[in-house]
Amino acid sequence: MASPIYETEKLIADDIDAYLELHQHKSLLRFITCGSVDDGKSTLIGRLLYDSKMIFEDQLAALESDSKKVGTQGQDIDFALLVDGLAAEREQGITIDVAYRFFATEKRKFIVADCPGHEQYTRNMVTGASTANLAIILVDARKGVLPQTRRHSYLTHLLGIRNIVLAVNKMDLVDYNQQTFDDIVADYQKFADEIGIDSFTAMPISGFRGDNITGPSENTPWYDGINLVEHLETVELDITSNQSKPFRMPVQWVNRPNLDFRGFSGQISSGRIAPGDAVRILPSGKTSTVTKIVTLGGNLEEAVAGQSVTICLADEVDCSRGDVIAVADNPPQSADQFETTLVWMADDALIPGRAYWLKLASQTVSATLQPPKYQVDVNSLEHLASKTLELNDIGVATLTTDRDVVFESYAEESGGANKALGGFILVDKLTNATVAAGMLHFSLRRAQNVHWQAVDISREAHAKQKGQSPRLLWFTGLSGSGKSTVANLVEKKLHALGRHSFLLDGDNVRHGLNKDLGFTDTDRIENIRRIGEVAKLMTDAGLIVLTAFISPFRAEREMVRNMLPDGEFLEIHIDTPLSVAEERDVKGLYKKARSGELKNFTGIDSPYEAPDTPEIHIDTTKLSPEDAAEQIVEQIQSAWENA
Ligand code: ADX
Repeated sequence: MASPIYETEKLIADDIDAYLELHQHKSLLRFITCGSVDDGKSTLIGRLLYDSKMIFEDQLAALESDSKKVGTQGQDIDFALLVDGLAAEREQGITIDVAYRFFATEKRKFIVADCPGHEQYTRNMVTGASTANLAIILVDARKGVLPQTRRHSYLTHLLGIRNIVLAVNKMDLVDYNQQTFDDIVADYQKFADEIGIDSFTAMPISGFRGDNITGPSENTPWYDGINLVEHLETVELDITSNQSKPFRMPVQWVNRPNLDFRGFSGQISSGRIAPGDAVRILPSGKTSTVTKIVTLGGNLEEAVAGQSVTICLADEVDCSRGDVIAVADNPPQSADQFETTLVWMADDALIPGRAYWLKLASQTVSATLQPPKYQVDVNSLEHLASKTLELNDIGVATLTTDRDVVFESYAEESGGANKALGGFILVDKLTNATVAAGMLHFSLRRAQNVHWQAVDISREAHAKQKGQSPRLLWFTGLSGSGKSTVANLVEKKLHALGRHSFLLDGDNVRHGLNKDLGFTDTDRIENIRRIGEVAKLMTDAGLIVLTAFISPFRAEREMVRNMLPDGEFLEIHIDTPLSVAEERDVKGLYKKARSGELKNFTGIDSPYEAPDTPEIHIDTTKLSPEDAAEQIVEQIQSAWENA
């Protein structure tokens, strides 16, 4: 029987123009394949590529000779060799990274992400699955449903993939036995019910022999279901199901080439829109009406999910990058605190309280996480207590953003996942690395019920009355570097100059406000967060604030810097080599730390990240505390005069 794939090949040969034309207008399905090392994942993908003739003659020749050399299939072609491209993988016989591959049939184009199966590659699987519409869960017919089958299915479901194919592979090795297939399907059904997978499509296949891949197999007369390629060609796409949801478009940029034109550009994430439709801009809530929908190819009468357009509105409403344009009578919510599920993807563990960038649609905001409520064991699905999340861990935690985020719950009960406004990533502010992928579930009440109260005496009025510009002089350095001593001298000098100031000192604040905090990374971050907030309030009151804390992490010092208006935060590095601080050992703490009596001591078994470009750098091996204080005051005075 001529398969759809072979017909494509014929068209390419006979009429390449007709083929290209057809190709351009085909829909695109993205899917992932999940399975363990030897479930036959690579062989299946190789088979799909081979049958769709996406491999060229020379590759084919290489494949045939390679198969004979290193293949695991005797004299037959080893399709896995097509896919397991990297030499290291070939040698180990496993697939270690997400590899995207493209193939096409007459009806559709496909991008398949081949995700490794091992638990330590959860991160890679999440990367591959984040854009997929369908997942093929491969099961070896001889082994049945394994812990990794459950793990892959759980992750797939968590990430909102609603089209699941249970491909019972290697049917040739169980003599195409129907009972074996039925038992595996029944087993999987039980598990699917447990985690809320509503439906899945099960097929008996052999990637190696080609059974039920592009057409019905003579070897499984008892199976009258759909074959794999036909299923991939006809399954409903996210784009299509998104079109029936309410209209939303995250604004990527404001298009203003001249004074006569102002449009808002972005990709419609759901629904449809036409000129005359009433829309609401979020988070502001302002409404307007669509006047035009502009595209490169001309103005549109209607646009739908998946299209990139520029929308013009009847009113001069405020709307910028990150805002969301939505249908007026059914808009998404906005909030600043959420329950989320996170997949941790960085080698460095989550630090509760640390500020990360959160990117959701075209919005970027600063966000912090509380310690996880629990972590999920992906094999048993048990909830485990946990203080943090490490690489490949999955957990549920409360997330707080520094301003409102327009969002929708990732996993809506019906209609599939709202990936555009419910899925996000977290990015490390210093390294720019993606540290987590997450899903927003719902907003927490605080966000809805606590509002900002306006007050009449502004920070400018406070400062003016004191006749000074507020400043935060942030002293940082090792324990025993002399922060407190120098800060104290600086404050005395400022006081003598008639300045209104206040000194917050580490040891002192830890006797009161922060007496509940110790010296773990998390506690130090919370220490600095609180000091930052207090110092900010004090600058609001018009004061010159001095703080003397080790404040060992760059990220938190940057966080405090960003809480204040530009130029108000001055970082002062009291730079003393560890050996010198240890030599001085005023409080005898280094000695205790060296003897193991004191844990997590900065410089010994807890890190200190020195500032790269502090406003003021004091080398205490060269300057006495008195001279250091003098230099700092001079520098501040001249900055003031130039301001
Ligand atoms: S910070 O790291 O959170 O900024 P902070 O400046 O408040 O530290 O407190 C540091 C002071 O606490 C030190 O000067 C020292 O007197 C005392 N201390 C007690 N235990 C430790 C420790 N494990 N590491 C550092 N300082 C400690």
